[in-house]
Amino acid sequence: MKAIQIHGFGGPEVLQYEETNRPEIKSNEVLVRVCASSVNPVDNKIRAGEGQAKFPAEFPLTMGWDLSGIVEETGQSVTKFKKGDEVFGRPYPGKNGAFAEFIAVKESEIAFKPDGITHEEAAAVPLTALTAWQGLFDHGKLEAGQKVCILGASGGVGLFAVQLAKWKGASITGTSSGENIEFVKSLGAENAIDYTKESTNNMDSDFDLVFDTVGGEMQKKALRLIKKGGRLVTTVKPEVQQEAKEKNITVESFTARSDNDILDKISALIEKKTLKIFIAAVFSLKHAPDAEKAGGEKHAPGKIVIHVSEP
Ligand SMILES: NC(=O)c1ccc[n+]([C@@H]2O[C@H](COP(=O)([O-])OP(=O)(O)OC[C@H]3O[C@@H](n4cnc5c(N)ncnc54)[C@H](OP(=O)(O)O)[C@@H]3O)[C@@H](O)[C@H]2O)c1
Repeated sequence: MKAIQIHGFGGPEVLQYEETNRPEIKSNEVLVRVCASSVNPVDNKIRAGEGQAKFPAEFPLTMGWDLSGIVEETGQSVTKFKKGDEVFGRPYPGKNGAFAEFIAVKESEIAFKPDGITHEEAAAVPLTALTAWQGLFDHGKLEAGQKVCILGASGGVGLFAVQLAKWKGASITGTSSGENIEFVKSLGAENAIDYTKESTNNMDSDFDLVFDTVGGEMQKKALRLIKKGGRLVTTVKPEVQQEAKEKNITVESFTARSDNDILDKISALIEKKTLKIFIAAVFSLKHAPDAEKAGGEKHAPGKIVIHVSEP
């Protein structure tokens, strides 16, 4: 089968479109014929060798940790899925990904694909939507009526975070660059702040939760936005633990996990059209290296999707 693999860490030049063996499945695994995948910032981090602590890699490693496709074969102990089922999910980063014609995934890593959307749309969902859900609700403990500030609200994770916080009944402020302000408002944010122009000094300082997908200086500045006893949850490196402790603010950094119960809930919200999916561009499997480059550059809001095969 064809796949995009790396044989060592490095720049974009290590991404190879090549022939490799179709994976063999274990008893608790499902072989999925991949229809589509999508690009995430973690791809570049893993390719560059920066993901080793979280996701130790073995070479050759197939890239791509979002998946939508059709079940081809199931292991002996698999009970939930059968050949022909349409599924989506987030394969474990560090193990072989979905920039390939076939992938072996654990039964627990996939869920039934939402009805009424294409595989390209479904592949734009799992990693970022799971991250948004777990960040807001599992770690952030966000409740209806609370105030949340989402840093990076126009990004892959942020655009789901705004929509999920809206669904929950929270009051939302989002940050983005100027050209994405209207987009962030259209997702359900009452306030959208242009981080290139506006200072956090002019923002409210009584948020129950800051959900940070940006990090660095932005995260440090955001600490003053949180009320005493509130939370800062980040998808990147936590930089503010000591100052947070002094203000009685809880800081949590987390790595999203595969969870098919949450994927089922996300799927139901997509089917009800509560959650919208945004695609910025679609590339073929062969051109996945160009897609990775496009994903790392400034682009229209939405995911960069890899089309692998027709359903
Ligand atoms: N821990 C986990 O499990 C997990 C899971 C998923 C993602 N992540 C990490 O979370 C981060 C975001 O992922 P993503 O997929 O949402 O990325 P993304 O699609 O590239 O979005 C990045 C967001 O950050 C904003 N941004 C960029 N530069 C900024 C700056 N200097 N100051 C303030 N905001 C800035 C962008 O706004 P504009 O485009 O409007 O400028 C955009 O909203 C990445 O580092 C990723 O690796 C972690």
